[in-house]
Amino acid sequence: MTRHFLRLSDLTKDELDALLKRAVHLKARQKRGIPYRPLIGKTLGLVFEKASTRTRLSFEAGMSQLGGYSIFISPKDSQMGRGEPIKDTARVMSRYLDAVVIRTFAHSIVAEFARYSDIPVINGLTDSHHPCQVLADLMTIIEKKGGYDGMSVCWIGDGNNMANSWIEAASILGFELRLACPEGYRPDEAFFKEAASRPGAKIRMCDDAVEAAKDAQALNTDVWASMGQEAESTERRKAFAGYQINEAVLKIAAKDAIVLHCLPAHRGEEITEEVMEGRQSVVWDQAENRLHAQKAVLEFLLTKGDERQ
Ligand code: CP
Ligand code: NVA
Repeated sequence: MTRHFLRLSDLTKDELDALLKRAVHLKARQKRGIPYRPLIGKTLGLVFEKASTRTRLSFEAGMSQLGGYSIFISPKDSQMGRGEPIKDTARVMSRYLDAVVIRTFAHSIVAEFARYSDIPVINGLTDSHHPCQVLADLMTIIEKKGGYDGMSVCWIGDGNNMANSWIEAASILGFELRLACPEGYRPDEAFFKEAASRPGAKIRMCDDAVEAAKDAQALNTDVWASMGQEAESTERRKAFAGYQINEAVLKIAAKDAIVLHCLPAHRGEEITEEVMEGRQSVVWDQAENRLHAQKAVLEFLLTKGDERQ
């Protein structure tokens, strides 16, 4: 059966642990300049309906480093934008490509694509999940903190796609996750309850940023208005006042806490310039780790264990 990577819960705990270890290994290998090209002759398609800097570039660069090739296509320049059904596009793409990364709006679009696809489908961000980003975030925590076991992570801001992927990560891996999201912008209740009730899960919704940040070892946030929500920006700016990672919040967290942001960031909204550029910010390493984590995903989906070095 074709494996897809649409959300973190598509992986078991063992697979997720192993994949992150592999990402660290592939990064070290790349830094030492040792070539590793298990994907020679393979082609990755990238179908992006929303803007992207990191996801697109890191997948294209990663595919090239692994010896493969990638093709970018935007729905508006293809028959997808003229209404060709997803199920037809999925079956046709399966005949040309070896895997496909999709960035789109509704999660149901990638789910439907995957249902009809004979090749692995990777979620490059939907309105509900951003699993590739959270892989890179977890990898950054491993590098900076030695691992996520026993970690206390805090999420301040929107209960959006990033928050959902963090919730799944915490429910699979068992580290503590405390979230502070304004009323009306919390993650879907049924989804949250299910993840939080998983055996070993330590996930909690807090009343405010102070409660969520108390002694946290990693502070995490994202934009207040995601792609597709631009019209709500003014309203959201009001609702999210008090949900900012700033010096005051940083003081409440553990002394050596790290600050994560998936980027792009809106300085002065969800995070201050001071914190973004401060010594506890790890956002540039986090962005780099997209490359290494996604190479591990491509390797996982497109090679057999005995081909891996
Ligand atoms: N973090 C992230 O997914 O960035 P892009 O939107 O630039 O791909
Ligand atoms: N929540 C943001 C993440 C961008 C990488 C968005 O969906 O726009």
